[in-house]
Amino acid sequence: MKKIAVFTSGGDSPGMNACVRAVVRTAIFKGLEVYGIYRGYEGMIDGEIKRMHSYSVSNIVQRGGTILKSARSEKFKTPEGRKKAFENLKALGIEGLIAIGGDGTFTGAKIFNEEFGIPVVGCPGTIDNDIYGTDYTIGFDTAVNTALEAIDKIRDTAAAHDRIFFIEVMGRDAGFLAVESGIGGGAEFVMVPETATDLDAVVKSLKNLRKSKSSSIIVVAEGDDEGNAEEIMAKIKSKIKDESKEFKVTTLGHIQRGGNPTARDRVLASRCGMAAVEGLLIGKSSCMAGVMNQEVVYTPFTDCIGKTKPLIEDHLKLIDILSI
Ligand code: F6P
Repeated sequence: MKKIAVFTSGGDSPGMNACVRAVVRTAIFKGLEVYGIYRGYEGMIDGEIKRMHSYSVSNIVQRGGTILKSARSEKFKTPEGRKKAFENLKALGIEGLIAIGGDGTFTGAKIFNEEFGIPVVGCPGTIDNDIYGTDYTIGFDTAVNTALEAIDKIRDTAAAHDRIFFIEVMGRDAGFLAVESGIGGGAEFVMVPETATDLDAVVKSLKNLRKSKSSSIIVVAEGDDEGNAEEIMAKIKSKIKDESKEFKVTTLGHIQRGGNPTARDRVLASRCGMAAVEGLLIGKSSCMAGVMNQEVVYTPFTDCIGKTKPLIEDHLKLIDILSI
């Protein structure tokens, strides 16, 4: 293998740049020519592919976002789109791909590999941490810390006014962000899609809690079955039936996707990027380079996208115990 290309796809996450840097520099170190594909699968189809050098990735290890840009491509879902993408890669002699993204990115990569045989290794880049085959995804730690910073600030004002705050965090269909920011932020409750929430029990506890606490923080994962934070707040408010209680909702939104990556994310991104290049060179394909129990592991895309990563049970227990 002489030429490889790297791209970022789907929702960006802090640390993607550190990963691109690791891919480019490892590839050059190993004597490969390396290309950057802009805007993910969209750019692969539109031919936005540029040669990258060591200096192309200077001064990006600390930056959020992705210098390669990102997109969610509808065209790549069509056979014509994928054919065009493959022709563009072939014209440049690109023999291997590194895809940095989440489950949508890996689903596309798996199909592409099956159709055209081009080897693809993935790196887990998403703030959601919902990828099987890695303890943490690139960007998750930064997003948790961003959410925490916001929760800490909200707690100040919640306490000052004796209010009950519902804070909605991202995570798509997974509750990892909600759970870790909830533990770190000392939330009274965390509502996640993985477990059914008994609203009556929450109401009962809130009533009891208020005897000893003046304010409460409830972290809601955006994918919770009971609805979004606004809807959950309305349901609980109607059950509490106490006009003297004040309820507020804050949706953190896309601030969770930006910002300088934490040290942990930079290190994880660098390890995954290096491992992805090394994986391609030893014949790995249609798999993701992740880190589990401190070790680099390669997990087939079929498992990364097909298996559900469970929440850590102790984390859920912690929230219950520490909120009394
Ligand atoms: O997958 C990352 C993520 O930020 C999710 O947490 C969220 O549901 C989604 O992307 C938002 O996507 P977009 O930026 O396209 O609105």
